[in-house]
Formats: sequence, C-alpha cells, structure tokens
Amino acid sequence: MQPVKIGRYEIKSELGRGGMATVYRGYDPLFEREVAVKVLPSELLHSDPQFKLRFEREAKIIASLEHPSIVPVYDVGEDNGQPYFVMRYMNGGSLSERIKAKILTIDEAVKILAQLAPGMDEAHTKGIIHRDLKPSNILFDGKGVPYISDFGIAKLSQAQSGNVTGSAIIGTPAYMAPEQAQGTGVDGRTDIYAVGIILFEMLTGRQPYEADTPMAVAFKHITDPVPQILLSNPNLPEDVEPIIQTAMAKNKDDRFATAGDLVDSLRAVAAGQKLTAEQLTVRGAVSAGKGALPTVVKGVPSKTVKSDAKIPDAPAKKGFNIWFVVIPVVLLGMLGGGYALFSGINPPVETEAPVATSSSAPATDIPEVTPLATETTSASVIAETATTAPPTETPTQAAPAVPKIGGADKIVLVANNELWLMNVDGSDPKQLTTDGATKNDLQWLPDGQTILFLSGKTVKFYKITTDTVDTLTTFPSAVSLDAFQVSHDGKQVMIAMSNEIFVVPFDFETMKNIRTRGNLFGMEGACILPTGKTNAALAVREARWSADDKLVAWLYNGVDAAGSSIQAEQVSVFNIQDCKPETIDLIDNFPGSRFSPVGFQTRIMPDFDWDGLTQFAFNTSRRNNGWGEFYIYNYENHKATLLHPIDNKCCYRDARWSPDGTYLLFAFQDIGLGAEAVSLLYYVPVGELNTGANFKPIPLPEGFFKNPKEAPQPALRPAQP
Ligand SMILES: Nc1ncnc2c1ncn2[C@@H]1O[C@H](COP(=O)(O)OP(=O)(O)OP(=O)(O)O)[C@@H](O)[C@H]1O
Ligand SMILES: [Mg+2]
Repeated sequence: MQPVKIGRYEIKSELGRGGMATVYRGYDPLFEREVAVKVLPSELLHSDPQFKLRFEREAKIIASLEHPSIVPVYDVGEDNGQPYFVMRYMNGGSLSERIKAKILTIDEAVKILAQLAPGMDEAHTKGIIHRDLKPSNILFDGKGVPYISDFGIAKLSQAQSGNVTGSAIIGTPAYMAPEQAQGTGVDGRTDIYAVGIILFEMLTGRQPYEADTPMAVAFKHITDPVPQILLSNPNLPEDVEPIIQTAMAKNKDDRFATAGDLVDSLRAVAAGQKLTAEQLTVRGAVSAGKGALPTVVKGVPSKTVKSDAKIPDAPAKKGFNIWFVVIPVVLLGMLGGGYALFSGINPPVETEAPVATSSSAPATDIPEVTPLATETTSASVIAETATTAPPTETPTQAAPAVPKIGGADKIVLVANNELWLMNVDGSDPKQLTTDGATKNDLQWLPDGQTILFLSGKTVKFYKITTDTVDTLTTFPSAVSLDAFQVSHDGKQVMIAMSNEIFVVPFDFETMKNIRTRGNLFGMEGACILPTGKTNAALAVREARWSADDKLVAWLYNGVDAAGSSIQAEQVSVFNIQDCKPETIDLIDNFPGSRFSPVGFQTRIMPDFDWDGLTQFAFNTSRRNNGWGEFYIYNYENHKATLLHPIDNKCCYRDARWSPDGTYLLFAFQDIGLGAEAVSLLYYVPVGELNTGANFKPIPLPEGFFKNPKEAPQPALRPAQP
C-alpha cells in the first residue's frame, strides 16, 4: 500500500522499485518542490542494531556529495521504522531506458560519460564508492542532462548482510567488478569497472557477461576474459577495444585510474584519433599510490558486522529485482581463487592491497595494447620492407667473443615495446625495432639468425644477417593470433588462432601465402585442434614443443581441471604425433588438481616455458600485469617447487630454460619496493635456485625497462658454433 506521507513529504505516486527500495514521487511542502523519496526496507533497521548508527553516519557522507553530476540528496530520515532518502526528482528517465530503446553512438556515450565522470572522480577522492553503478542509476533531468544516483547506498544496505569479514556482498552482478564479487577490497576503480560495462552496454545494447543465474554472472566477472566489444559491434572504431579492455581489466591496477581518463580516451577515439601511448597507458596504480582512491568509505569500521550475520532472504519475498543479489562470500572466495579452500597454503587474497598501492606505471610508459589494437598499430607504424633473402640462409657472421652460458649465447627480449638483442651476459645490447607496437611470442628459428615474433595478428621476423624487420604473414580475419611456435627441427609450426590450434608443416616461403583459417586447412598434413580431449575452444596464451617435437604444451584459459566449472589458466601436455583427433593423448594438465600454487587466486598464469623434457617453469600473477610467484613443475612426478631465488622475495615472470636445461633466465621485481620496483633480469644455474645463493642481475643500461607492467618475454638463442 502506498503511504500518504513519509516524514514531511507528500507521496504522489510510485516511481518504481529497485533491488532493495521503493522510490516514490513526492512533494516537499516546505521548499515547495517535487522530490523523489526512496524508502529502504524496514528490515534493515530491525535486523541489525548497528544499522541505525551506520545509516546516519553514511547518510551524512552521501548527503555531503554535492556535484553537478550527482543527483542531490536533500534529506534523510526515518519514518515508522523505515529509513528513507529524499532526492531531487529526475523527470528525464534513466539510461537503462535509453539503452533499451536503441544502441547509443560513441558520441552519445562520450556526452553522457563526460558529464558523469567529474562527479564520480570527486566522490572517489572523498572516499565514497558507488558500488552499484548501472544504467538504472544514471538518471536524466528534463533537459536530458545525466546524473548519477544512489551513490553509496549499496554500501549502506550492506549493513544488514555483512561485509567481507561477514557473509555476504551486495551489488548487481551484471556490473560487479571481480574484487567486489570476491569480497576483496573495493575502491574507486571498482566503479570504473562498472563504467566499462555500462559503456559496453551503451555501444552494443547488451551486457558483456550474461548467464542464467546472478551467481553465474558474478563468476564470469571473476573468471572469464573480457569479451571483445568489436565482436558484438564490429562497426565501432578499433580503439574502443583497448578502452573496454582497460576499463574492465580484472586487476584494478590495470584499469583507468579515474573516470576522467576513461572519458579522455573515449573522446579521442570518437573524434577519430588514434589513441596515444599515454592515453592507453594504464595509470590506475599511480593514483592509487597517491592515496587518491581510498579502499573503504571513511569512518566505517570494517568489523562492526558480526560474522554470523545472516544472508537475508527478504528481497525475494518482497518481489525485489532478482539481479540484485546477496552473494555468500565464502563461496565466491572459493571459486574466485581457492582461498577459502586453501587458506593454509595461499596468502590471503588481500595481498592485492600492497600491490595496488605499490605498483606504478609512469606517464611515459609504453602502452599495453590488446591484440586487436596492436594489429592496427603495427600495421600503420611499421614500414614493411620487401622480403629479401630467405631466412634459412646460412649465417654469414658469428661474433667471436660471445660468451656461452647454459648452452645459449644471445638473448632477445622486449623492452618498451621494442625488440632488443644482447649477449647472454648482457653485453652489447642493441635495439632491433623502432615501431613502438606491442610484440610477443619471441622465438629463434633453428638457423640461429631469424627471430620470429607476433605483433597483433601479424607474424614478423627480424634477420640478424640483414638487420631487417619483415612480415612473414598476417591473419587479418582472425579474432586473435595467440601463438606461432615453430618446432625445434623447423619442420612444423603450431599456430594458436581464434580459439583453435593448427599444426601444419612449416616452410618459410609457403607460410607467406597462408593468411586465413581456410589456407591452413588447405595445407597438406594440417592438423586442427581442439578435439574432444581438449575441451572445445582453447583460449591459448602460449605454446611450446618438446625437445623431440613429439609433444606440445599449451598454456590456455579453460575449464579448471580440478573439477569445478570455472575458468582457469592452465597448461596441458599432449602427444599429437599422428595428429588424429581421436588418438590425441592428454599426458598431463597442471596446476588443475595437481597442486594449488601460491598467488593463483586470480587463476591467471601469465607465462610458462618448457625445458622440452620433464620440467616446466611458470609464474602466477600478483602485481603489475602478471608478476607473481615462480614455480618449477615436473610433469612426470607431478612435483611443483615454489622458488624465491632473489632474496626470498616476490615477484617473477617470464622464466626461460637455457637450451641445455641447466640455467633459468627470468625477470624479477621486488614487490617490497612498491612503485619504485624496477624489472631486472637474472640468468642463474637451476641447481642453485633454492640455495639462498646471492645472484646478481644481468647488467643492463640505466633505466632499461621503463614500464614495470611490461613482460620482457625473453628468448635464448642456442649457442652458435
Ligand atoms: N531521483 C529520482 N527521480 C526520479 N526517478 C527515480 C529517482 N530515483 C530512482 N528513480 C526511479 O525509481 C525506480 C527505482 O529506483 P531504485 O534506485 O530503487 O532501483 P534501481 O536503480 O533499479 O536499482 P538499485 O536499487 O540497485 O539502485 C527506478 O525506475 C528509477 O528510475
Ligand atoms: Mg537506483
């Protein structure tokens, strides 16, 4: 039944109901104006003795938010046991209605977000996090100007159901950032994630993650890769992709630091500009380090809620929106990272906190670009030179004094988006490329003179003999080109592209004409995977051959072999010798049910390498886009060893076995140095890794690695005679 009056406000009609409240159109006789009155369920007051106190305190904070892009809260109170808010009445409808009516253009999206961003950023600097940003909380006035409503109200209603230490999280799953779904610390960047989703929805008319149940949607935010917006709306400019990918990055550190940054980038793309390095550079960590993004609403002790606070079932009974759910934290904790299950082994998920405050990417950083964007960048920047001599040519020169360690003599790696070549002891560094495009999957061909690498959807190569960069081939219609690994004997190549793997004969000249999936199929002896044994589509990140080229290993994102239905990055080893789908043999899969790596709560395995025999090296992700714990795993005896070779500290990435298997080359960043940490390279004997020996990094020029989030991805050249 509709009340006649709430406080001094005369109630005219019901405007609607949301996840936990009813909103009425009302009239304020004192100020003689129309208002909206939002009434929260009286259960909030009754079931939690702390609520009243909290409501008053929080309400003051919310009411203190005065900004032209935030719906003003005029008054708060309690009437007949029912807490209520009085807000400005917004008569222009909500963004949710506009999206339902039609897909928005980029210009329209920019216009709306540009109006909202300053308010959001101001709230964040005050420590107020929205926590429930979504199109229905963006309301328009009569002139069509958008405002954010319900700032901080989700937090308030959480009083009843518990916080991280309690039992539940409240929010709307479709817009919930991974850290919110997992119950780990939220901050302003949690709202930025939601803006990413809203942008996705404005430009495509659909939400990025959809599933049958709210819980399943929440899990997808934690485990599924960020969907590619260009697949949903191919008419968008390509640079919208990196904006979505950055806004919706799983790790807060990788998101835009402020809504303003996001809007700046979007505005540039809308104006037809290519994003600059700075616009694409992830700056989340910088502001976090300055303390601009507090992690909790000030003045709210996090432990005031008893851990036995019950999960309310009132919403369902009252006919509240089912998409606004209360999620048991324990369950999410388990699914999100296995913390609840393995708390004895794994550090708490909260280890992320020091990461957020410590990591930093200076403004001069080279951008991280998603594969789609990379494609364009590289295509437009690199001046292709005509293919000259075939790279299988015999070497014409060999430096006489090159040291040989671990069976290797040279290292090629990525620094500031360029390829660098140096001797294995760091001497004689030389920059090989200058195009600024991202590069990955570096590999030496057996001739010892050709370095293959990927740049977007293009396979490129650098030839030492001629000092030229050239294109081998490109797969323009692929969704993604993820790996291109030539076997040790140089006769086959394993190509991971658009969730499929092809193993085809490798021949430099033939490969130049292979540009589509169809071309690959047409090759004699082509083998296409996945098969029944590889669990459908494979989102491959990296691939390796065994030393005898009979086995292959893939690092991919797929259903976790530990038995749950969630996604995890993992490695599978297969025997593909006769390459018949029915006979393909899965030899091992890890970590899966084998072991539970420290720092694997995110289920991200940024990198792996294989000595070609029984040993793998890999790392988890704790900071800076993929620096984490360093492991060796033996797939024959299933033994995993955690390594902390440098001063017993985290974090590592991109370990590579030396050609003779006696050394490991890896990159290290001291997590303890926070934002000051620089990337260092080490090349050390495997036998001494866990002896506490004092290793020295490979000497590199001052300030060599400028972006602490960059992956060096080194490749060692087998020593040349
Ligand atoms: N200040 C306002 N002026 C006019 N209409 C409003 C105002 N605030 C809310 N409404 C309308 O009232 C309805 C209910 O809003 P409410 O905020 O409770 O739900 P919601 O935004 O869908 O979900 P949530 O509870 O997560 O915020 C919505 O249709 C909304 O458009
Ligand atoms: Mg609302």
